[in-house]
Amino acid sequence: MPFDYFTLGRSGLRISRLALGTMTFGDNWGWGADERTSRAMFDRYLDAGGNFIDTADLYTEGQSETLLGKFIAESGVRDRVVLTTKFSYNAETGNPNAGGNGRKNILRAIEGSLRRLRTDYIDLYLLHTWDRITPAEEVLRTLDDLTRAGKIRYAGLSDVPAWYAARIQTLAQAHHMQPLVNLQLQYSLVERNVEREFVPLAQELGYGITAWSPLGMGLLSGKYRPSESGHDGHGDGRMQALKGSGLVSLLDKFTPRNWRIVAALERVAREHGLGMAQAAIQWAARQPAIGAVILGARTMEQFEDNLAALDKPLSAEALRELDEVSALPQQFPYSFFEQAQQERIHGGAAVGDKPDGYFAPVRVAAAAVSATQGLVAAGAR
Ligand SMILES: NC(=O)c1ccc[n+]([C@@H]2O[C@H](COP(=O)([O-])OP(=O)(O)OC[C@H]3O[C@@H](n4cnc5c(N)ncnc54)[C@H](OP(=O)(O)O)[C@@H]3O)[C@@H](O)[C@H]2O)c1
Repeated sequence: MPFDYFTLGRSGLRISRLALGTMTFGDNWGWGADERTSRAMFDRYLDAGGNFIDTADLYTEGQSETLLGKFIAESGVRDRVVLTTKFSYNAETGNPNAGGNGRKNILRAIEGSLRRLRTDYIDLYLLHTWDRITPAEEVLRTLDDLTRAGKIRYAGLSDVPAWYAARIQTLAQAHHMQPLVNLQLQYSLVERNVEREFVPLAQELGYGITAWSPLGMGLLSGKYRPSESGHDGHGDGRMQALKGSGLVSLLDKFTPRNWRIVAALERVAREHGLGMAQAAIQWAARQPAIGAVILGARTMEQFEDNLAALDKPLSAEALRELDEVSALPQQFPYSFFEQAQQERIHGGAAVGDKPDGYFAPVRVAAAAVSATQGLVAAGAR
């Protein structure tokens, strides 16, 4: 550290590249941190210079927001932090309008979040997950109204189809409404699908991407190492708690492809004197369009480890090695946008001949990306 600040998407909001994830604040779900540990992580994050905090009304059934509200009030840091929370998940079984992305639920959900967070405004308010029914116009109008009412400063989307994110932003631009600034999506060495649609979409339409589960829910943390303990690793923490729950299955990630990624990560991290979690977080933070990586930790030791992820830069060669071992398989129609096809379209001119910033479906090197877009310049900071 100390933290530098980057603008989020095409906005004037300055955020730290490492955000404080608080899905583990509270022990309601059986795999989080108690109040004392959560408070220690919160204090440590602010001491290190971080300002970007992520929660949701869903997390630990409201406990995460309640704890955060208490910590922020007691520390008197409301204006210093960029506070993010989310709506979508249902709060009252049997009442469909107490969940989803309709106007009625959004206006209900924000009041609960404001109350638990002990504040009168949210800095970044996110739709948590697409509900498959609410029209983009309704979501946009409601978020725009909340901005005008002073209840939120910025808005964004999490876990939506790319076409929906493109539609909502285009509507905002065409109708002079407050544009959205953030897409929060799962992104890590073992989950790179967002690169196909969301990275060029974010660059084109002014969204900054924030990456959740940068450690693949723990798979890349170093606790699952085939070289030491075989493919089952140590089944403690979240993996043990969620086993058989049918919810998030870390076991689904135990594939031959992912073990090859874990093995490369272990090698690269060792060569650079980094922990595996640190190398995985840094890799994600240095990819195009990634505005911030959201840290998740259950213990203070894990949190300290993750907080130092950007302290020692991975070499260009190491980034390339990780990139190659985790590369997405070729898939239609994206294969048509690769270099060989494009050369046939452009009469032999390489795609790289286009100026930086021009729409580039082919991945750009981290070094070529502008920091002013909230993206990452070469070399860790
Ligand atoms: N928008 C969304 O839909 C969405 C979804 C999920 C998360 N999020 C956000 O993203 C944040 C991060 O997500 P995540 O918690 O899934 O991230 P993650 O970094 O992929 O996983 C974190 C988990 O990995 C283990 N871990 C973390 N650091 C470690 C270390 N240094 N050494 C060993 N183990 C380590 C801990 O689990 P153990 O219990 O195994 O120790 C920890 O709870 C959340 O807090 C939340 O704010 C958003």
